[in-house]
Amino acid sequence: MAKATKITDTEKEELLSESLDVDTDGFGKSAATSETVLDLRNLQTQFTTKWGTVKAVNGVSYNVKRGETLGVVGESGSGKSVTALSIMRLIPSPPGEITGGEVILNGRDLLKLSEREMTSVRGGEISMILQDPMQALNPVFTIENQVGEAIRIHQGLKGTSLFQRVVDSLKKVRIPAPDSRAKDYPHQLSGGMRQRVVGAIGISSEPSVIIADEPTTSLDVTIQAAYLRLLRQIQQEEGVGIVFITHDFGIVAKMCDRVAVMYAGRIVELADVRTIFNSPLHEYTKALINSVPKLEEKTGRLAQIEGQPPLLHNLPPGDSFAPRSPLKYDEKDASIDPELVEVESGHWVQLSRSSVADFDKYKHLVNY
Ligand SMILES: Nc1ncnc2c1ncn2[C@@H]1O[C@H](COP(=O)(O)OP(=O)(O)OP(=O)(O)O)[C@@H](O)[C@H]1O
Ligand SMILES: [Mg+2]
Repeated sequence: MAKATKITDTEKEELLSESLDVDTDGFGKSAATSETVLDLRNLQTQFTTKWGTVKAVNGVSYNVKRGETLGVVGESGSGKSVTALSIMRLIPSPPGEITGGEVILNGRDLLKLSEREMTSVRGGEISMILQDPMQALNPVFTIENQVGEAIRIHQGLKGTSLFQRVVDSLKKVRIPAPDSRAKDYPHQLSGGMRQRVVGAIGISSEPSVIIADEPTTSLDVTIQAAYLRLLRQIQQEEGVGIVFITHDFGIVAKMCDRVAVMYAGRIVELADVRTIFNSPLHEYTKALINSVPKLEEKTGRLAQIEGQPPLLHNLPPGDSFAPRSPLKYDEKDASIDPELVEVESGHWVQLSRSSVADFDKYKHLVNY
């Protein structure tokens, strides 16, 4: 289990007592619109290793609307972070390479931009909240320096106007006394406050998309909830689209508008959050939902589901979930490369006889 950040009881009270204008059954109302801000089309990223080619992202397509939170879930190694890093074009090369597809942000394909243009997109139009808030802040610089950096680079502000924008960003994430807090170093703030500062850095450049990769794993549960409410509230105010990567299906239910389920570098199911929970079609989605800890055993993380994820180097064609599927199928069915098909409006499933019990109902949609 991730180690919880140490905070005092007074700090906890201070955080929780702030009036957050959201509903109580979830982390806030949806602000989703129908305007697409980010559109991934058939994205492919691979790594060359001595064991062979790892197809970490193997033809992923999803989009995010303005004001929407798209959850990306799946076991460790399924390609969630590599997809996110590919969007940001932060794949280490070698050994990695984006080998195909498009990443359309506000109408432009990021994969076609020069490295220089891409630098202004990163931390500008699109920003990333990293997995570990303790590592995201540099201990030797003040909060003012760190929040101000993106604003200085992207908006060219200096002096008092820069300081004012830093204070505004800290206010947006509900940091009390932002003028004096800006002068503090990270160690002078509580874990929850540091996480808010990371949030402030994320929104300081007024991005249209924020990618949050496991943003709360190192936080205490109550602080986690307060932080997620805050993220949702920022979203309502700023209309930002969020790609929310997590293992935690409990958080998905409260936080996300739609959910993409990843397995072995592919999306196996994508739908609005209610459909994913109430009528999942892919056996992998069902297994993930069944592995959510019951309310009385609040461990937060997913229990293991049976079997091992496949090794991603030299992955054979066909349905990679088949060996773990509880369904009866023959080898020929499992060897066919499954297509991701829209079975009902907005509900996409990777259709395969080996992983979808209702396959026959939808088989007219695929070329079998
Ligand atoms: N630099 C690298 N070299 C080789 N393989 C890599 C590299 N980075 C990632 N991979 C592989 O890409 C695959 C996808 O990894 P990724 O980090 O996206 O998983 P994830 O879904 O984010 O998992 P987690 O939930 O553990 O964060 C894994 O099989 C991983 O081993
Ligand atoms: Mg990851």
